[in-house]
Amino acid sequence: MRELLADAARRLTEAGVESPRVDAELLLASVLGVTRGRLLTLVTVPDDVAVRFGTLVDQRADRVPLQHLTGRAPFRFLELAVGPGVFVPRPETEQLTGWALERLAGTDGPIVVDLGSGSGAIALSIAHEHPGARVTAVDVSADALALARENAARTGLAVELLEHDAREGLPGGPYDLVVSNPPYVEPEDLPALMPDVREYEPHVALVGRGATEAVVRAAQDALRPGGWLVVEVGDGQAGAAAALLGGLGYADVTSTEDLTGRDRVVEGRRA
Ligand SMILES: C[S@@+](CC[C@H](N)C(=O)[O-])C[C@H]1O[C@@H](n2cnc3c(N)ncnc32)[C@H](O)[C@@H]1O
Repeated sequence: MRELLADAARRLTEAGVESPRVDAELLLASVLGVTRGRLLTLVTVPDDVAVRFGTLVDQRADRVPLQHLTGRAPFRFLELAVGPGVFVPRPETEQLTGWALERLAGTDGPIVVDLGSGSGAIALSIAHEHPGARVTAVDVSADALALARENAARTGLAVELLEHDAREGLPGGPYDLVVSNPPYVEPEDLPALMPDVREYEPHVALVGRGATEAVVRAAQDALRPGGWLVVEVGDGQAGAAAALLGGLGYADVTSTEDLTGRDRVVEGRRA
């Protein structure tokens, strides 16, 4: 076992994978159908497992995202199904969801919309962690909505799913909270992204010139007075996004740092 993992980690290091040892352990754990913690108590693996693991390590070395290979992504208290064609939820978005939940604290039965919902990570987490919230997950991608539907069924959580383009405003409302992790990569920044992201995440989930502005404008019309917009932004975009909210008349505009000290969440409430 130790040798197998060490070889795989070496292979993934050479391929430029960011967290080679952890990825190797998670891949082997997924083949064996055990947790990573349990994996480390095992000493040997059957030959057929070693062969299947080798195939996955080859694919990971080709920079196929880890979560596409395991088919799962943990997100806050949930374990979500993920796969090609739909954005893999990220740790920084777990934090965004936490801020959104704080804005809902003390509100009974809030009406919430997750704009650009992808796998349903934010919408389902809000439904899970704020019982009674009425949550709508909106996405322009039919593939994303199909996966969000699968995740709603997996988790037993109820959210409304809606195929809709945010550039046409927001149906329904008035909302107590609009939360969004929109596509915020500028096209010229695509080549600098890791191949796992650049080549495997759907373009519509990454690149969206003006997507943040579309979300901010759509939310302004759909929020109730005093309702909150909580939106994730790219590194270096918080100042412009906060200025946009301020310029449109949002009140109490703030930006918040992620765990690495970069401003990644911008919030404001409809005046
Ligand atoms: C960065 S992903 C976020 C997915 C998910 N909320 C998460 O955080 O993991 C952006 C999502 O916005 C969706 N999207 C892109 N443009 C959109 C638009 N104009 N209207 C609605 N959804 C859009 C994409 O399909 C994608 O699922």
